[in-house]
Amino acid sequence: MVKSLESGCYPSTRLRRMRTDSFSRILMRESSLNVDDLIQPLFVREGDNTAEPIQSMPGIERLSVDRIVSKCQDLHHLGIPSVVLFPVTPPEVKSDDARESWNPNGLVQRTIFAIKDKVPEIGVMTDIALDPYTLNGQDGLVNESGYVMNDRTVEVLIRQSLSHARAGVDVVAPSDMMDGRIRGIREALEHEGFYNLRILSYAAKYASSYYGPFRDAVGSATNLGKSNKSSYQMDPANVEEALREAAFDIHEGADMIMVKPGMPYLDVIWRIREAFGMPTFAYQVSGEYAMFKAAAKNGWIDEQALVLETLLGFKRAGCHGVLTYYAEQAARWINP
Ligand code: PBG
Repeated sequence: MVKSLESGCYPSTRLRRMRTDSFSRILMRESSLNVDDLIQPLFVREGDNTAEPIQSMPGIERLSVDRIVSKCQDLHHLGIPSVVLFPVTPPEVKSDDARESWNPNGLVQRTIFAIKDKVPEIGVMTDIALDPYTLNGQDGLVNESGYVMNDRTVEVLIRQSLSHARAGVDVVAPSDMMDGRIRGIREALEHEGFYNLRILSYAAKYASSYYGPFRDAVGSATNLGKSNKSSYQMDPANVEEALREAAFDIHEGADMIMVKPGMPYLDVIWRIREAFGMPTFAYQVSGEYAMFKAAAKNGWIDEQALVLETLLGFKRAGCHGVLTYYAEQAARWINP
């Protein structure tokens, strides 16, 4: 800023000059959005050759394992480097101790195996948290008063991570916000010889109202009822605390850092990227997707232009990549 003032202002400098033609606008472009910036979240359900629409997330379906595999083939051909899996757990296997989370033959474990068997090139990430498996829809185990117990939960998260590792996952992404879980998971992975398994930490995950459609999609909304997650997810008012969360997780062994939700938290992304220079990601969550879809359906916005502008905004704010339900669609828009 100071530099350009020293070198002269209007009329020797006219900032509109470089905007005159497309070629010079392209030459001075500071950030870009590419297909390889996109990570596709996928919802997996039991069944064969089944695709079940999600009402609040038009265009997104709960897919059976075989359909997930063919979806991954399509995504790989589009150039999308990675997917992240979320299970729709049948209610009858949910329990107080979330034991289904580390079942070696569980839905997620079978899905990881099937994808790595048929589409080994695509990076498979999994969400580490207990909310798909608990009767109360919380991300961890609760005591008599309903408080989510930290260290007891971390023990189960470690089991869950190891079961995913054994099934062949490439990246585990703890989204539970327990203290010390990155250290616990990292030590266990090292101990079992999974040296190169990557950890993408949801370091700054906010207690947000933007997760509603997701909770419908995986079927945890009714389990959670009127409870909330504010005793472990972060207060939307805080950013200093996000820096401390990220610092701890990096120290404990995270390879990548994520901020969630996306668009309302661009300042958090920017500050984390500036402070640590780590591979940094944003999760554009279900509520953000649902808002775009609703406005587009009403004809109120130009969906393609708005979504691509938003995804570029994540890049400008310092993201290396974005988890977005728009990944597949955006890939087709970027490379028609
Ligand atoms: C669960 C989890 C959630 C999301 C990702 N992992 C929901 C929650 O914390 O309640 C939300 C994703 C979205 O809204 O798209 N730990």
